[in-house]
Amino acid sequence: MLLTKLQPCTLLRQHKQVLRLALSQTSARAYTTTMTLSQKLKPAARVSGQKQDVWSIINEAAAASPKQPIVNMGQGFFGYNPPSFIIDAAKGALDRVECNQYSPTKGRPRLKKAIADAYSPFWGKKIDPETEVTITTGANEGMLSAFMAFIEPGDEVIIFEPFFDQYISNIEMPGGKIVYVPMQPPATGATKTSSAADWTIDFDQLERAITPKTKMIVLNTPHNPVGKVFSKEELQKIGDLCVKNEIIILSDEVYDRLFYVPFTRIGTLSPEIARLTLTVGSAGKNFYATGWRVGWLLGPAELIKYVSAAHTRICYSSVSPLQEACAVAFEQADAHNFWDDAVREMKSKIDRFNEVWDELGLPYSEPEGGYFVLVNMAKVKLPKDYPFPPHVANRPRDFKLAWFLIQEVGVAAIPPTEFYTDENAHLAEDYIRFAVCKEDSVLEDAKERLRGLKKYM
Ligand SMILES: Cc1ncc(COP(=O)(O)O)c(C=O)c1O
Repeated sequence: MLLTKLQPCTLLRQHKQVLRLALSQTSARAYTTTMTLSQKLKPAARVSGQKQDVWSIINEAAAASPKQPIVNMGQGFFGYNPPSFIIDAAKGALDRVECNQYSPTKGRPRLKKAIADAYSPFWGKKIDPETEVTITTGANEGMLSAFMAFIEPGDEVIIFEPFFDQYISNIEMPGGKIVYVPMQPPATGATKTSSAADWTIDFDQLERAITPKTKMIVLNTPHNPVGKVFSKEELQKIGDLCVKNEIIILSDEVYDRLFYVPFTRIGTLSPEIARLTLTVGSAGKNFYATGWRVGWLLGPAELIKYVSAAHTRICYSSVSPLQEACAVAFEQADAHNFWDDAVREMKSKIDRFNEVWDELGLPYSEPEGGYFVLVNMAKVKLPKDYPFPPHVANRPRDFKLAWFLIQEVGVAAIPPTEFYTDENAHLAEDYIRFAVCKEDSVLEDAKERLRGLKKYM
């Protein structure tokens, strides 16, 4: 039984009413318009009034750059395909009648079993595919489902800065209040290359952030954009605080197969922590197929059942043929040595790319996991009178750096203060994030262009 504090939200208990309401609104939604809306038709606050997001600013800069085509190391999509055994599985699934029809809302039995089989060894127990796994439309929708399942208006959710930007609106949709705890960058980050492990949490600050209303905490390891893999000791401290205060842990582990130091899953630390932990996975990240939109949550049946209920309300079920292909990918991954190859290949991309920073003398955070590199560009001097457009000029320095990189050297990367509140943005305003999940030839091209930064240092 769940304690009162961990009860799923009334939204789900009343899901039949919600469904009826949604059906009655469908016809109204059909008449949306792109013209200016009258006051009465104005959009809900949850989707309006947001500042221009980083992706559109970077895309706009890329389109305006004189250095065409630019090398895009911004968004974390892969520049290459999944291996052929996975692509063939997807093609094969499309030929099967039952794979082109609705899947069960909680996911296809074959995929749930494949995930339970793949993850049971990490948990040291048999994961029940029927009750402890639920398939979602990518990790992102899985996390939205988790927030929809447990957050009532006013409930607090703790997230660490920098954060994956989608958490924010996903928490705000059900009315959650976000409480931010910044990770502290390495003290010598502007002058020396250091390990991503040196981005740390102030545990006193974390403890102070917890209130009786704290319902969930979101953890991301391996971390985007820092590349940190939280140590067992750090996870134990977070887990202990959550056990003490009855807080659900949403552990975003979408980069769980890409780690270059020992990787611990918080849900495996103790039965007390496991009882509170929802672990999030992504087939898109695991199998180089971010467009497939297949993800999952693993956890105790008492939590998972409400995530499944929310997922059913949000999108009913997820893409059938690609779920089937992901099942085959899990079943055959070991035989193809896929997981080991994935680590070796990504680590070699990181090392290959980072050579250019060593050459230029620009410090970076050496990733412990994932495929993002954070580079500190405090040494890059932006010309005083550089013509930044107003919407870039009034953002922190990293936005200007990103704009400048695109215009002057033709490489797109992401300004990480987008993943901070305004209050803490100064912590990352000299950093730029590069996604290295690209072909080696693209990385070499990027390096050649980035050497052009020398004249600005
Ligand atoms: C930390 C983190 N969580 C979740 C996601 C979303 O994963 P998916 O594509 O499976 O929705 C991403 C994608 O970039 C991510 O970086």
